[in-house]
Amino acid sequence: MKKIDGKKVAADLRLELKKKVSELKSKYNAVPGLTVILVGEDAPSKIYVKNKEKSAIEVGINSKIIKYPENLEEKVLLDKIGELNNDKEVSGILVQLPLPKHINKRKVIETIAHEKDVDGFHPMNVGNLSSGHDSSIPCTPLGCSLLLKQTEKNLSGKHAVVIGRSNLNGKPMTQLLLKENCTVTITHSKTKDLKTECLRADIIIAAVGIPKLVKGDWVKKDAIVIDVGINKTESGLVGDVDFDEVSKVAKAITPVPGGVGPMTIACLLSNTVECFKKAQSK
Ligand code: GUN
Repeated sequence: MKKIDGKKVAADLRLELKKKVSELKSKYNAVPGLTVILVGEDAPSKIYVKNKEKSAIEVGINSKIIKYPENLEEKVLLDKIGELNNDKEVSGILVQLPLPKHINKRKVIETIAHEKDVDGFHPMNVGNLSSGHDSSIPCTPLGCSLLLKQTEKNLSGKHAVVIGRSNLNGKPMTQLLLKENCTVTITHSKTKDLKTECLRADIIIAAVGIPKLVKGDWVKKDAIVIDVGINKTESGLVGDVDFDEVSKVAKAITPVPGGVGPMTIACLLSNTVECFKKAQSK
């Protein structure tokens, strides 16, 4: 069994991006810029945003955080996004989710110029991804995809089972697997017999937020298992996969923590660099 080291893969990707940013700086006399907007006091969001800034600075991306109070008027946020859309120094815009309830998330996502949508949440990017065209790809599934490639270069013909149908991960993950010529089954809370579905899988992507849902006897011998779950329990952080059981059966598996988590921010930086490059070549 191979434990897929997300920390190491993410560190390698950041190093590669650092080189790329340095080359871009020489070529264009400018560096990519990432602006992250944080509204309110959500504790995990504050940590994520801080980590995003730290990693951006590490690779030479110009990072800016804009903080607003919880009671922010929606219009102020939309106007700020409009301003950032027109700012040449800003290659990528990310509005940290969740947003306070009085702010319309959809309106916010759709206000970000799709060319600066480093989250890949804008309908234009979602549509382009599902049509197989060039697009920003949501960071979590992009990270999963890069981790899969660590173990298996050619995924063609593999049967992948995705657990969870969120816009953040399950749906875009399905598109990425289809692009790799996988046969994909997407499962969710109403799926009748999840264990039987999982037993058919060469690849399992678990992203449902249920601690240790996927057990050892749910997994075919030599399957590859990617665990997106980050669940806080009394015994610490655990994934959606029972690591101790599944690691005895799987060919390769990501740990939690240290698997998909570190990849997400590295992929955000990669998306920012891609947005910068596209803006320069226009
Ligand atoms: N909150 C948790 N994950 C994410 C993400 O990938 N993007 C944004 N914008 N907010 C998040």
